[in-house]
Amino acid sequence: MKAIQFNSYGGAEKLDLVDIPAPTPQPGEILIRVAAAGVNPIDWKIRSGQMEGMIPVDFPAGTGSDAAGTVTALGEGVIDAVVGESVFGVGRSTYAEEAVLTTWAPVPEGVNVEESAGWGAAVETAVRVIDQLGLVAGQTVLVSGASGSVGTAVVQIAVGRGISVVGTASAPNQDYLASLGAIPVVYGDGLVARVTAEAPSGIDGALHLSGAGVLPDLIEIAGEPSRVLSISDFAALELGAQVSAAASDHRKAWAEAAALPAFRLPVERRFALAEAGAAQEHSAAGHAAGKTIILP
Ligand SMILES: NC(=O)c1ccc[n+]([C@@H]2O[C@H](COP(=O)([O-])OP(=O)(O)OC[C@H]3O[C@@H](n4cnc5c(N)ncnc54)[C@H](OP(=O)(O)O)[C@@H]3O)[C@@H](O)[C@H]2O)c1
Repeated sequence: MKAIQFNSYGGAEKLDLVDIPAPTPQPGEILIRVAAAGVNPIDWKIRSGQMEGMIPVDFPAGTGSDAAGTVTALGEGVIDAVVGESVFGVGRSTYAEEAVLTTWAPVPEGVNVEESAGWGAAVETAVRVIDQLGLVAGQTVLVSGASGSVGTAVVQIAVGRGISVVGTASAPNQDYLASLGAIPVVYGDGLVARVTAEAPSGIDGALHLSGAGVLPDLIEIAGEPSRVLSISDFAALELGAQVSAAASDHRKAWAEAAALPAFRLPVERRFALAEAGAAQEHSAAGHAAGKTIILP
């Protein structure tokens, strides 16, 4: 099968299109023929070597953890998947024609298989951070970087739980944020004043998904550091804020999103497998409004 691998850390040019045997699912895993693989920032962070301390890889290394496609084989003990079924989920080396999923679910009704390829990490992260911050119905949360993949899911899950969302994005993404149900605010200088104007009764917590140097503003807006949680800047701990990194219950999170009738995680760009480097560079540019996916 064709797959993407890299042999040393570095830029997108390190990604090679190779021909290798299809992987074998281990007990509790499944093999899928990949219809689409979702691109996440962690993919290019691992490839660049910046995650070596936390997530080291053995070379040659595959890349990608999100995918959707058709089940072709079941690992020992798997009783909740059927060969031929359309599923999405998370696994290993998903930028490939075939890939192993370690956690999966049927593609939700009304969601196409390509879009479901982007659900894996983003939806799980969204539910996890809302839960970790302890947000409940009637409260208001500020989301920094609300138009990205995780942000798109956070806004809709929070609104679905009765939590009001003030979300930051660039000017071109303000209408997009409003369409998801958030009160849109442009990020950058003057953020504290703009958020205060939109939420005069106060902000109960702030989720830092994206945005360099914005944590002090989020802490000022939320009133105290412990009400701020970051998923992208672990130096937040030094400021007294929370961080979140370890995945929790994927299936529970996906089920919550699937139960929201209008939940969407739009596909913004599609790349061929041979264009995996360009796909990761697009993600690394930091302004993807929706999911980037790879079509093997
Ligand atoms: N710790 C974890 O468990 C975990 C899990 C998933 C993701 N993450 C991390 O979370 C981050 C976001 O992931 P993602 O998948 O949502 O990324 P993404 O889809 O690439 O979205 C990035 C978003 O950042 C926004 N942005 C860019 N500059 C900004 C700024 N100065 N202030 C506020 N927002 C800004 C962009 O909005 P505009 O286009 O409007 O500029 C874009 O929508 C990444 O660093 C990723 O590695 C961590």
